[in-house]
Amino acid sequence: MRIAVYQTSPAYGEVEYNLFTALNALGSFRADLFVLPELFSTGYLFGSRKELAALAEPIPSGPTTRALLEFCRAEDCAVVAGIAEVSGRGSARKYFNSAVFLGPRGLLGRYRKTHLFNLEKKWFDAGDSGFSVSVFRGARIGVMICFDWVYPEVVRILALKGADIVCHPSNLVLPFCQAAMITRSIENRVFTVTANRVGKEKRGEVEIPFSGMSQIVDPHGRVLRKAPRTGEKLIAADVDPTRARDKRFTPGNDLFKDRRPRFYRDLVR
Ligand code: ACM
Repeated sequence: MRIAVYQTSPAYGEVEYNLFTALNALGSFRADLFVLPELFSTGYLFGSRKELAALAEPIPSGPTTRALLEFCRAEDCAVVAGIAEVSGRGSARKYFNSAVFLGPRGLLGRYRKTHLFNLEKKWFDAGDSGFSVSVFRGARIGVMICFDWVYPEVVRILALKGADIVCHPSNLVLPFCQAAMITRSIENRVFTVTANRVGKEKRGEVEIPFSGMSQIVDPHGRVLRKAPRTGEKLIAADVDPTRARDKRFTPGNDLFKDRRPRFYRDLVR
């Protein structure tokens, strides 16, 4: 399975332009699975919840999801991409920092970010989807978004649910994640695919630079491909997802069989 990551530099609020640019880049390349960053079509630094409301789209009926679905059908591939989602009506209306998982036959999954980062709490509702794994071309694929990296429970749950590959659309700000995701791969024996963005956004006094260095990591923690800190870039790797199913750590250790969950109860108190 060929996995490709497109490290983008979206223009804030320019949904059509960002979508067009991304589809243009993806369309010039062949891969089974493309991963795009968090909020790749809108940009990140919303001025208010109202501003987010003007850019958010329903899933799967919104134009961004429909265009990505059309791409998956035309190119016979899958896409994981971060999208600002609106759901529900009237007082039940909610806004989620979501990621879609799309294939040639339609929506394979939708994830709503569980752990909102900093200012995101002003704009978004906390995700309510939980974590799920969907199958594409025999690979079991889970999705999480950006700041979820700091909660090791997320990749662990996805791995326990059978994920071979964890796709990780991101808009990374802090410098620790790329190293932490190597650990997430090692401790769960899974591929992790972090699609980060580059560039800066500035609103008033607030300026956020994004850190690039998108990466594809194998189940032994080897970085198969890494993008630079700056600049848009497409990186790709050919992987065998079934390599993530061998959880033997040493001749005497199986990563998952050796877990002692009865000692972990404090985690869910
Ligand atoms: C982040 O979660 N976008 C840092």
